[in-house]
Amino acid sequence: MEIKKIAVLGAGQMGNGIAHVCAQAGYEVIMRDIEQKFIDKGMATIKKNLERGLKKGRITQEEVDATLGRITGELDLKAVVKDVDLVIEAIPEIVKLKLDTWKEVDEHAPEHTILASNTSSISITQMAAVTKRPEKFIGMHFFNPVPVMGLVEIIKGQATEDETVEIIKTVSEKVGKKTVLVNEAPGFAVNRLLVPAINEAVFAIQEGVATVEDMDLAIKMGLNWPMGPLTLADFVGLDTLLYISDYFVEEFKDSKYRAPALLRKMVRAGWVGRKAGKGFYDYSGDKPKPMRF
Ligand code: CAA
Repeated sequence: MEIKKIAVLGAGQMGNGIAHVCAQAGYEVIMRDIEQKFIDKGMATIKKNLERGLKKGRITQEEVDATLGRITGELDLKAVVKDVDLVIEAIPEIVKLKLDTWKEVDEHAPEHTILASNTSSISITQMAAVTKRPEKFIGMHFFNPVPVMGLVEIIKGQATEDETVEIIKTVSEKVGKKTVLVNEAPGFAVNRLLVPAINEAVFAIQEGVATVEDMDLAIKMGLNWPMGPLTLADFVGLDTLLYISDYFVEEFKDSKYRAPALLRKMVRAGWVGRKAGKGFYDYSGDKPKPMRF
């Protein structure tokens, strides 16, 4: 089966990035959110990121126009999924919201449509089970910022068919990403490693091992990471990291995945990182200022 038309559910950070790369690869894309203002914001981000590429001479004005011309915004979920070949969901990580959305999508999407979730931790098998097509349900995990990061983790649920995996691999490669195939397990491959690593950096801050900026510098220069772990924590969102840590403890029944108390306290204070203007750094000034703990 050839994928031609894709619905992306959610116009947020991940959703607009996914819509961007799919449209740039030549797919017709409908980006859906629950309010027009979210769609407008997502479209503005896509435009800004395309123009960034134009300024650097990586793409032409014709490519920018053609990419934007392939993306439409839409609020009505039924209308969005009624004639698409693939649905990629990037809505908030709330289990009930995901399950309710998938039930509705399954009811209105054509029989051949493949359903893919960009979840970073929720069980693919659990979501697939609320649909009548678990063999066509799969995980398709992109990384932030989507236009830049080169990987898609493909996650096979209990009932996912090999044909579905092959189709998603083809789409991921067409949008310029390398793929890894992962059997379903909490955090898949990347977050299984990333979340405990970031948590360990936060434990070290909590214990006074180093300052925020020195811990970041140490890992950036000592391990050649593009961002230090605390900058990356702010980039991903402390709320997301806490959610994943708690989910790991619940699923693995192993306290080694527990979140540091400092992370929990910061989330309770609303200091969830860049999107809130404050996390391990304060973003209110000209350049990020490290916090003291
Ligand atoms: N959208 C599109 N392009 C972007 C971008 C964005 N949001 N941010 C940066 N870019 C582009 C820039 O235009 C630039 O392109 P060129 O090389 O062609 O000039 C390139 O990316 C590098 O950007 P900058 O020079 O501005 O900045 P940088 O070198 O510091 O790179 C970064 C920025 C790419 C974000 C880099 O710091 C990085 O790779 N950080 C780590 C990101 C990461 O680990 N992401 C995964 C998070 S985990 C996750 O997403 C999964 C989960 O489930 C939690």
